[in-house]
Amino acid sequence: MNDSLMRVYFDYNATTPLAPEVIDAVTRVTRDQFGNASSVHYFGQQAKGVLDDARSAVAALVNADPSEVVFTSGGTESDNFAIRGAADAIEPTGRRHLVACAIEHEAVLNTLKALARRGWRTSLVPVDQTGIVAPDRVRDLLADDTALVSVMHANNEIGTIQPIAEIARLAHERGALMHTDAVQSVGKIPVDVRALGVDLLTLSAHKFNGPKGAGVLWIKRGTRVQPILTGGKHERSRRAGTENVAAIAGMGVAARLAMGRVAAEGARVGGLRDRLEAGILAGVPGTAVNGTPSLRVPNTTNISFDRVEAESLLIALDLEGIAVSTGSACSSGTLEPSHVLRAMGLPAHRTQNSLRFSLGLFSTEEEVDRVIEVLPRLVEKLRGLTRKAG
Ligand SMILES: Cc1ncc(COP(=O)(O)O)c(C=O)c1O
Repeated sequence: MNDSLMRVYFDYNATTPLAPEVIDAVTRVTRDQFGNASSVHYFGQQAKGVLDDARSAVAALVNADPSEVVFTSGGTESDNFAIRGAADAIEPTGRRHLVACAIEHEAVLNTLKALARRGWRTSLVPVDQTGIVAPDRVRDLLADDTALVSVMHANNEIGTIQPIAEIARLAHERGALMHTDAVQSVGKIPVDVRALGVDLLTLSAHKFNGPKGAGVLWIKRGTRVQPILTGGKHERSRRAGTENVAAIAGMGVAARLAMGRVAAEGARVGGLRDRLEAGILAGVPGTAVNGTPSLRVPNTTNISFDRVEAESLLIALDLEGIAVSTGSACSSGTLEPSHVLRAMGLPAHRTQNSLRFSLGLFSTEEEVDRVIEVLPRLVEKLRGLTRKAG
């Protein structure tokens, strides 16, 4: 590894570096508040105090009541908990149908598949060419036995933001619950559970400069959801298992920081993303942005490079010290075309020649300019190789 390279990390949608304040909190709590939050003695109560504080901070970030916040191990568990937990609670009423969006994260899509194996009917609502779900298409799929609708707030690959409030209204009209995976929106844009009108919301700390392995399922008061983990009475009997107090403390600090700077950071990072996007489109011929430019989280751009294999460009960029992604981290390492770009109806070559650039808290103009400077040369070289091979 060449360590004299200027390293550019533009993969914030995969995970984010921890804010220094978060590192301090995780370190301090690991050392000083090691108690089990369920213990009645001093050490346990200290740990419980840490959890209470973090619960209030995360609740404030999404305009929730702290009693509605259930700590989990992250986005994947929260998505599983929302869908499996709601399904288990609703099944006795005879409702056995689930609706999700075609561009959901695997945590949602594969949970639906698992429930389909148990006899549930599942429907995937399509997106249009810009990566947006039309509420009317959701309405078309809703049935009398629909138990839950799950549509992500912002997409991890292209950043598009869905009309959740409208979809939630339609779901409720048919007596179904509404879940949203807000893993990619929390911390990037203001998220308000009441304004969204949902019953269940997933968030994950490591996407907003918090630690990995900590997340939340927000459960609106009165919503019946069965626990998916059986065990002790932690989290008011909603999620068994000793809480990861240090990681949760870090999530609380990250939530407070995010709340304080979401507007200013959104504008700053949005400016950097736009500069990057404009620089790439102007400097590299045969490029196009995937997903609507108007309804996106401010940190993400997904760009197709004609006649370039995305994996080759990703590796070439990595050798230059620049870290980006081909769609979701889970599917990288394979040459699978992106299910998101495919669902948008993009032609086959464009589903395999697209890169995601996602920026964040520590991104700088210098880094953006470095990427703009390096990319034309790399793309030209790869296209030349393809021409020779052809
Ligand atoms: C939209 C979305 N949902 C869920 C997850 C899973 O979250 P976690 O990594 O905390 O399990 C991710 C992570 O990439 C995501 O982007």
